[in-house]
Amino acid sequence: MNNKVSIIGAGMTGATTAHWLAEREVADLVLVDIIEGMPQGKALDLQESLPVVGKDVQVIGSNSFEATAGSDIIVITAGLPRKPGMSRDDLLSANAEIVSNSTRQSLKYSPEAIFIVLTNPLDTMAYLTMKVGGLPPERVIGQAGILDSARMRAFVAMELGVSVENINCYVLGGHGDDMVPLVRHSNVAGVPLNEMLPKDKLDAIVERTRKGGGEIVSLLKTGSAFYAPGAAVAQMVESILKDKNLIVPAAAYMQGEYGLKDIFFGVPVQLGRDGAVKIIEYKLNEEELAALNNSAEAVKQTIAALSSLVEF
Ligand SMILES: NC(=O)c1ccc[n+]([C@@H]2O[C@H](COP(=O)([O-])OP(=O)(O)OC[C@H]3O[C@@H](n4cnc5c(N)ncnc54)[C@H](O)[C@@H]3O)[C@@H](O)[C@H]2O)c1
Repeated sequence: MNNKVSIIGAGMTGATTAHWLAEREVADLVLVDIIEGMPQGKALDLQESLPVVGKDVQVIGSNSFEATAGSDIIVITAGLPRKPGMSRDDLLSANAEIVSNSTRQSLKYSPEAIFIVLTNPLDTMAYLTMKVGGLPPERVIGQAGILDSARMRAFVAMELGVSVENINCYVLGGHGDDMVPLVRHSNVAGVPLNEMLPKDKLDAIVERTRKGGGEIVSLLKTGSAFYAPGAAVAQMVESILKDKNLIVPAAAYMQGEYGLKDIFFGVPVQLGRDGAVKIIEYKLNEEELAALNNSAEAVKQTIAALSSLVEF
């Protein structure tokens, strides 16, 4: 197995990402955390599960970034999760330092790696990774859109009682409560969503999708979602390592696409061996563009707040 993926932060999302990735058997895995013994213990437990499921990958846990040397992909999940009542932006200052440090340390040992960022506030942490690392935009991608779209797909499937595989949904924008579920571009086996569901049901699904992360946070009481975010990262990693060029909603660096510049933002992105190889631009109507711009304003404000905390 030649591919190597290192996951920084072996907490709920980090460990679950490793689990989903081991199931895909696409790379050897390294889990890094500051808590002594924890990444080693989780890695060993995961390694010991693999004879049962018949997957041959190596899983290593470490408290040192040295173990990540030569990684093809670095996944950053290190940082604090939300508590009930907190917004993702409330995590900004604590996580900015952790993400900056994780980026610098990872690059020391894997100068060519592609970075997938999960830590919140997501769009701003992806921006920080690119700036602090001095990385070309295609080598940094934030995970949010696959998760948000999967939530919407799950809600539609529950409502209609059809397979999740038949449901295509696209949620764009920043990873906050202003995200933009694109109803017009979503469909069930090719039939537009608004022909499958009455408006009140559709509106309720859009609203539940926007608040999907908060719904989990308030149920769990401590910590935030981890199964779905980890599954989303694993899909991104596989597309990159296999050069599949899968188009998924994810946070990418905007250079004029959708009229936006110098922010990370959720858009359809083609993921290949070089990272975010292409951004797909939908033809949006006025209402959709206004919603995207509203979401972009929220991301711009968080990036502005970051600029007062960190020097790039
Ligand atoms: N983008 C998304 O879709 C999405 C989804 C879920 C969670 N998140 C975010 O991901 C982050 C992690 O969430 P979680 O549920 O895994 O939290 P968690 O508390 O379970 O795990 C975070 C881990 O990071 C470790 N850590 C802290 N500083 C570190 C450092 N400098 N180096 C290495 N490890 C370090 C902690 O010890 C902890 O084990 C949070 O910011 C959360 O908001 C994002």
